[in-house]
Amino acid sequence: MERRLKEEGIRYYRPHQKQQDFHRSTLRNRWVFGGNRTGKTVSGGAEAVWYATGNHPHKKIKTPNRGWVVSLTNEVQRDVAQREVLRWLPKNMIADVQMRKGTKDSLETGIIDFIQLTNGSLIGFKSCDQGRAKFQGTSQHWIWFDEEPPEDVYSECKMRVLDTVGDMWGTMTPLQGLTWVYDVIYMNEPQDKEVKYWLIQWADNPHLSREAIAQLESTMSDEEREARQYGKFVAMSGLVYKEFVEDIHVIDPFDVPRSWYDNISIDPGLDAPLSAHFYAVDGDNNIYVIEEHYQSGQSVEWHAEQLHAIANRLGWPKRNGVLDALIDSAANQRTLAAERTVTELFYEHDVLADTGVEKDIWTGLQRVKQYLKLRDNPQVDVWPRGKPKLFIFRNCVQMIREIKSYRWKPDEDKPIKKNDHAMDDLKYYIMSRPDIVLGGPVEQNAMSHTKQLKQEHLPYALRDNDTDDYDWHDL
Ligand SMILES: Nc1ncnc2c1ncn2[C@@H]1O[C@H](COP(=O)(O)OP(=O)(O)O)[C@@H](O)[C@H]1O
Ligand SMILES: [Mg+2]
Repeated sequence: MERRLKEEGIRYYRPHQKQQDFHRSTLRNRWVFGGNRTGKTVSGGAEAVWYATGNHPHKKIKTPNRGWVVSLTNEVQRDVAQREVLRWLPKNMIADVQMRKGTKDSLETGIIDFIQLTNGSLIGFKSCDQGRAKFQGTSQHWIWFDEEPPEDVYSECKMRVLDTVGDMWGTMTPLQGLTWVYDVIYMNEPQDKEVKYWLIQWADNPHLSREAIAQLESTMSDEEREARQYGKFVAMSGLVYKEFVEDIHVIDPFDVPRSWYDNISIDPGLDAPLSAHFYAVDGDNNIYVIEEHYQSGQSVEWHAEQLHAIANRLGWPKRNGVLDALIDSAANQRTLAAERTVTELFYEHDVLADTGVEKDIWTGLQRVKQYLKLRDNPQVDVWPRGKPKLFIFRNCVQMIREIKSYRWKPDEDKPIKKNDHAMDDLKYYIMSRPDIVLGGPVEQNAMSHTKQLKQEHLPYALRDNDTDDYDWHDL
C-alpha cells in the first residue's frame, strides 16, 4: 500500500468537500483563501498534477502542456509546493528532472527547476524571490501560486497564460491585509467573470485532528484567528457584515415562484445612487434578493420607469397599476429646490413608497446579521455547518460589492456612511420582516415543494442530503 501510494500517488487522493468545490470549477482564475492547515496546498498541488498528467477527474486537459508552480522562496518551494507535487505525481510518469540546487538522486532535498513527464508535459518551479524577470518568456497552460505572490509576478504570469487561454489558481492564507489580491480577486474590482474564490477553514479539513486544532488555537489572538482559522483577510475585521461569505450567501438566479414575491425597498438618491432591490420570501421565511436597480444622477420619474420595467419583466404584482415599495423616511422631506418630495414624485409615477420603516440603525444591522448568520445544524458535519436565511442573487452586483466593503467607523458603533445605498435598502426591508431567534432548531419537516425548489437551485454544497460520494476512479 505504501509503495503503491508512492507510485500512483494521485489515485489515492480524496479531496474534502471544499477541495472538491475548487477542483470542479471550470473557471480560469480560481483562488482558495483558507486558514493554516486547511488543505490549500494539497488541493493546489493535486490540481497541478491532474493538469500535467491530463487525468483531471472533472475537466478535459490537453497534453502535453506546460505549467508553473510558483512559491515565495526557494526554501518554501522545497518544503511545501514541490513536496506536494512529488507526493501526488506518479513516479513512473517522471521522464526527467532538472535541478536548480541539489542532485536528482534526492529530489525532496533539492530545489527542482522543472520536471518533464513521460507524456511530454513540463512542470516548472518558480520562486518569487527570483524576481519578475524570471517570469517572462514562454507561454504556459497553467500556473499555480502557493501563497500570495507580489502583484508584479502575478501580472507577468497573467501574460503567460494569455495566448494559451490557460488557467491560473492560487492557494493562500490572506495574512498581508488589503493587497492587490483583495482588490482584484476578493472584491473582483475588474468584474472578471473567470475569477472565483472559496474560503476554507479548519473545520473543513477532516485530516486535521481536534488536538491539532486546539494547539493551533491556543496561541492566537482573535484578530489573528480571523485569518489563520477562517482564511479571512486581516482587514476584514472592521467589516460590519463579517457573517457574509460570498460562497454561501450569493447564489445563481433561479425562477422564483410569484407567490414568494414580497416587496421592493428603495434608498433614495439623486446625485448619490438610488438603490432599489426586489425581495422574495419562501415558505420558511428565507429571503432572496432577486433584482437590482442602482443608478445615480437620474430623476425620480426615470427611476420609477425602471422599477416598472423590472416589475413587468418579473410579473411583479401591482395594485391598479401601482407598485408598492418601502423607502427611507428622508424621502418625505421637502428640499428647497423641489416643489414635491421624493415620495410624492414617486407616487405621481405609480410607485407607492411606504416611509413607515423603522430606522434605528443598530436594530437594523443586528437583524440583517441574524439573517446572514449560518444557523447551526449539528447533524451536518461538513462545511457549511448550517444555512443562512438571506440569499442574494448573483446579478445584484452592487449589493454584493457594498456588503463586502461595508465597514464600522473606527471606535464608533456605526458604519461609515459611504457605499451604503444597497445596505440601507436591505436594512429597511429586513426591518419589515420578523425578528428571528437564532440557535433554535433548523426546520426538519418533510420536504415541501418550496424546499425542493430551493434545493435544486442552491449551490450543491448547500443542499441537504448531499450524498455525493464521488470517486474519480469511477469516472
Ligand atoms: N484531501 C486530503 N487528503 C489527505 N490529507 C490532506 C488532504 N487535505 C489536507 N490534508 C492534510 O492536511 C494538512 C494540511 O494541509 P495543507 O494543504 O498543507 O494545508 P494548508 O496549505 O492549507 O496550510 C496536511 O497534513 C495535509 O497532508
Ligand atoms: Mg499551504
